[in-house]
Amino acid sequence: MPTASLLDVSLTISVIGTGYLGVVHAACMAELGHTVIAVDSDPAKIESLSRGVAPMFEPGLDELLGKVLPSGRLRFTTDYAQVVGADVHFICVGTPQRRGENAADTSYVFAAAQSLAPHLSQEALVVGKSTVPVGTAARLRDRLQAGAPEGVTARLAWNPEFLREGFAIQDTVAPNRFVYGVDGPSAEADVALLDEVYAGPLASGTPRLVCDFPTAELVKVAANAFLATKISFINAMAEVCEAAGADVVQLADALGHDDRIGRKFLNAGLGFGGGCLPKDIRAFMARACELGADEALEFLREIDAINVRRRSRMVDLAREQCGGTLLGKRVAVLGAAFKPDSDDIRDSPALDVAQAARTEGAVVTVYDPKAMEAARRVHPDLGYADSVEEACIDADVVLHLTEWKQFRQIDPAALATIVENPTVIDGRNTLDPALWRSAGWVYRALGRPTV
Ligand code: UGA
Repeated sequence: MPTASLLDVSLTISVIGTGYLGVVHAACMAELGHTVIAVDSDPAKIESLSRGVAPMFEPGLDELLGKVLPSGRLRFTTDYAQVVGADVHFICVGTPQRRGENAADTSYVFAAAQSLAPHLSQEALVVGKSTVPVGTAARLRDRLQAGAPEGVTARLAWNPEFLREGFAIQDTVAPNRFVYGVDGPSAEADVALLDEVYAGPLASGTPRLVCDFPTAELVKVAANAFLATKISFINAMAEVCEAAGADVVQLADALGHDDRIGRKFLNAGLGFGGGCLPKDIRAFMARACELGADEALEFLREIDAINVRRRSRMVDLAREQCGGTLLGKRVAVLGAAFKPDSDDIRDSPALDVAQAARTEGAVVTVYDPKAMEAARRVHPDLGYADSVEEACIDADVVLHLTEWKQFRQIDPAALATIVENPTVIDGRNTLDPALWRSAGWVYRALGRPTV
């Protein structure tokens, strides 16, 4: 891919917020040849990032930081005043689910705009990347305008991100599309400036769509709602497969050959978790309700319910395999992160299941290649082991809950000598049933026949 520097475009960029999105975006913009200053209010985070230590595990990120920091093109600060003079300011702060509600908490986005506004110049463009309820951009521009220096007209564009954890760098420097939401008299100039920011990926042929603010905001939540729907669809099929004695993996393979449907995101199992899909569909329903379009998204309630049901089904299966009660049973849990190649445990289906088994009196031991520290912090009452083998010592049942590659490489014959009962429940449908069964295991899975 040609970099921006090769294309001779180098801008000064500020990135507000150094969470998942912000850190990756800042490092990737520096990699594209721009000069980047990233701002966060957390001094500890800024100090560690300045040393090249990312606050989370993301494949390739430490290496990328190690490459761009010495170039001097990327700096981290807690001081907003240092963003003065940037051509483009990206707002990359989080929008978590509000406590006790379905709606998204946009307070960090508005706080970022408030802090940024006094430092705006006439030429600077503010670009929102956070996932927000439709209608936020228009309100945000008013907020920026209210705080901007006298004589400055605030410029705002909406440019949602579609990055997946585990592939965040690739999804930032080579996304499958750019969406620019623009509005007002500066719209044309805003598009041109964003084209300069993304000159490298655009030169490689990344499609770019220009639309208005509400459409750009909706693209992001609609995409996540669709992905969640696809996962819950196949998990609903898994429920039917369980009742009918059919195999959901073969069903998904057969469906996926129809390229109108496609095989991606049809992996049945424990369902979706993480910091995005669950909270985004809930916030989307809440916003539709505010807009009087609640009926349109009523189906997302069922998508959410199917998803949550898979977790309790997993606990039911574990109980069943333990003779009807989990009380005093040893349960080995393989996986804690909400997905592989991540140490993120936000709304992790694996930890939900582990915690539910613990609540029923099981002695639960968890192993995850990357998410142990985070899991220990949030679930101190669960047991933890340093390896798959250690987690499985004397286990009555082994639960495979996050599909790390390492777990696919387990030798079931060797593991059978460690456990009390060779019974595995595959919550992600990625272990090889024939291999496990031939090594003497009882293999159960969500949506697959018993034998
Ligand atoms: C998701 C979207 O995929 C990104 O496009 C979006 O940018 C991001 O949210 C966001 O809003 O920031 P991410 O949360 O990293 O990305 O994770 P996904 O890869 O979408 O997986 C979400 C969950 O669905 C995981 O728990 C995963 O195990 C589960 N999943 C995924 C399934 O259960 N089955 C599948 O077939 C696929």
